[in-house]
Amino acid sequence: MTNKPSKPINLFDVQASQKIIGQENFLNAFKTILNHGGYAQGPETRELDEKLANYSGSKFCSTCGSGTDALTLALMAWNVKPGDAVFVSSFTFVASAECVALLGATPVFVDSDPDTYNMNPKDLEKAIEEVKKEGKLNLKAVVAVDIFGSPCDYDTIMNIAHKNGMKVLSDAAQSYGSVYKGTKAGNITDMTATSFYPTKPLACYGDGGAVFSNTNEENELVKSCRVHGMSPEDHYDNVRLGMTGRMNTFQAAVVLQKLKVFDQELKDRYTIAKNYDNNLSDYFRKQRVLDNCQSAYALYTINCDDRDELMAYLKENGIPCGAYYPRPVHTQTAYAKWNTRSLPVCEKLSKTVLSIPMHPYLDKESQDYVIETMNSFAAKKMNKAA
Ligand SMILES: Cc1ncc(COP(=O)(O)O)c(C=O)c1O
Repeated sequence: MTNKPSKPINLFDVQASQKIIGQENFLNAFKTILNHGGYAQGPETRELDEKLANYSGSKFCSTCGSGTDALTLALMAWNVKPGDAVFVSSFTFVASAECVALLGATPVFVDSDPDTYNMNPKDLEKAIEEVKKEGKLNLKAVVAVDIFGSPCDYDTIMNIAHKNGMKVLSDAAQSYGSVYKGTKAGNITDMTATSFYPTKPLACYGDGGAVFSNTNEENELVKSCRVHGMSPEDHYDNVRLGMTGRMNTFQAAVVLQKLKVFDQELKDRYTIAKNYDNNLSDYFRKQRVLDNCQSAYALYTINCDDRDELMAYLKENGIPCGAYYPRPVHTQTAYAKWNTRSLPVCEKLSKTVLSIPMHPYLDKESQDYVIETMNSFAAKKMNKAA
């Protein structure tokens, strides 16, 4: 058995890349901003818009205050409003559905695929039929979440949505850098929202996000909604409802620095995931990544029936881990009135999933210690069962 590594193992490491990029590069970038004074949505945010659009291959990118703002701004651009049904996975961080409810529309929760943990297209179809039959809501949009960084079954989801007259918003908060059949996150669906929260694959040192689109019209609407619905011609005429969704320029400078190492970090996350995939016992069911796709591995997540016992065992052995998400959104208090459908798969997942240490700076010794500790748990369980 590998000895426990002498340095602590982290579930995420939000600071490690500073050493690689060099703190002085961040400080110099901050100094430039202090001197030019464009603190909110300054020149660095526009440079970032361009670099991110180029990176993802989308025509437009508009950075904003957070991933939640990005989701909300995209739905505002589509004029999502009361009376609209927006179909969304329940097995996600609350923001994926919160943006719908904040605009007065109705989140219609959709169950997950048991292997990918993402929106199950068959249940999406079922939910659409139910809403149509009831005849009270207007079919408006689908929010498809790439949970833990792994792309959804977009061909199928887009086909279902488009044939029902709906747009698809990808919630790529956890999956910026992922690839769906040769296309990068940001350029797969009608619009995409991402987050630069510190634990995300591409991160800042606070809150930040971005909306990606491929039409000038949608991008102009996002930009207008980001500053209170301002008219581009007359800044004192607000022509629609909007919000304060600007990106803080210091955060844009952080993301610009982080972009320098992003591809290497994605490769390192992938190498770690392969080590886990190949060496963790089959006792643990691993999240399935679709063929010809690559996850950004915001998290590496398995599921097993004795999750809580495994979690306690790992913690006893100095391995941090997290149950994301212990409560699907439809079971949370504020969402009770939209808890209208049976969602057995995501309810089961919330009791069985566990995310284990995953960040690009997790050394091999720590990875192997995690694997051996988990496998020793699996061996004990399997021996007992035999
Ligand atoms: C799937 C998902 N959607 C949306 C968000 C919201 O992003 P932010 O925290 O930047 O508002 C998150 C952040 O955790 C997320 O994981």
